[in-house]
Amino acid sequence: MTTFAEHRAVRSAWHAVSRSVDVADAPYAVRLCGVDLVVWRGGDGTVSAAPDRCPHRQAPLSCGKVVDGLLECPYHGWSFDGAGRCVLIPSSGPGAAVPSKACVHTVWAQERYGLVWIAVDEPGTTLPRIVQDEDAAFRRIVEPFQHWHVAATRMVDNFLDVAHFPWVHAGTFGADVDRVVAPVTMEPIGDFHGWRYEVSAGNDATGAAASGHSAPVVQRAMTTGFSLPLLVLSTISYPVNGLEHVILLVSTPVDDEHSLFTFVVWRNDDHSKPIDEVLALDRAIGAEDKAMLETIRGTLPLDATGLLNTQADRVSVEWRRRLRALLDAV
Ligand code: FES
Ligand code: FE
Repeated sequence: MTTFAEHRAVRSAWHAVSRSVDVADAPYAVRLCGVDLVVWRGGDGTVSAAPDRCPHRQAPLSCGKVVDGLLECPYHGWSFDGAGRCVLIPSSGPGAAVPSKACVHTVWAQERYGLVWIAVDEPGTTLPRIVQDEDAAFRRIVEPFQHWHVAATRMVDNFLDVAHFPWVHAGTFGADVDRVVAPVTMEPIGDFHGWRYEVSAGNDATGAAASGHSAPVVQRAMTTGFSLPLLVLSTISYPVNGLEHVILLVSTPVDDEHSLFTFVVWRNDDHSKPIDEVLALDRAIGAEDKAMLETIRGTLPLDATGLLNTQADRVSVEWRRRLRALLDAV
């Protein structure tokens, strides 16, 4: 049976697998949608990705090297260019012809938002535009990737959920958040689909570094939306000082039980505060979500009757309805 992570619609979506800076002068190993891949940067700076198996004796190419922009297998030194063609078989001697079958079948790779994105099958979706990335008033901060032992679907469901704030996030900003979730009206927000809402957030010292304001409780005007299949964008505006803090939440399916997580932040601050200070709140919130989610096994039921829902779950219900339709269309 095809699992969620192996579904054609998921394989043909773009998923972030690393920061751009993580793919430098050595091969990078990653598992995506149940497929082991090697990612490398060629001589012209372009990132390529392919199944992590040499066609000669199936050694993992990610254990090799990048030499003069070519991916060199650790076992017998066959070398592959960015298109996956083998261009050198050392044992055959200089200038020897290389059989055309001696290639790795590259998958789709691109870089955007400081991340390397891969699609295992021909992409059926495009990456959403994030307008703050084009605005010089905003700085972009890209977090290192983490491994979470939970299905990517459960992560997205969590990132679209506000009813858990007073419970899971009581240790950061959630203790003062109203437990009652106001009715949700969904709308397109740029390339995302979501809603606008207000939050009274606890604002301890860690929160103050993020909000740029020292009151014990601070008002946030927020939007949260999804872009199929698995991306979530949250925007936070602090009316008290005009600070905007935008977070792209990335949930990448390694397989149905394991995922990669990172987030990218755009802020229109004056860049004076160190990254570790302004991201401390987001990092703590992510750790709270991770601890909760890693107690839950298996993929999230996507069918309409698989979960109980309340009005507070409206956004998740709509995301799952659209995700189901995407899966059913392929
Ligand atoms: Fe890769 Fe032999 S297994 S060159
Ligand atoms: Fe959360």
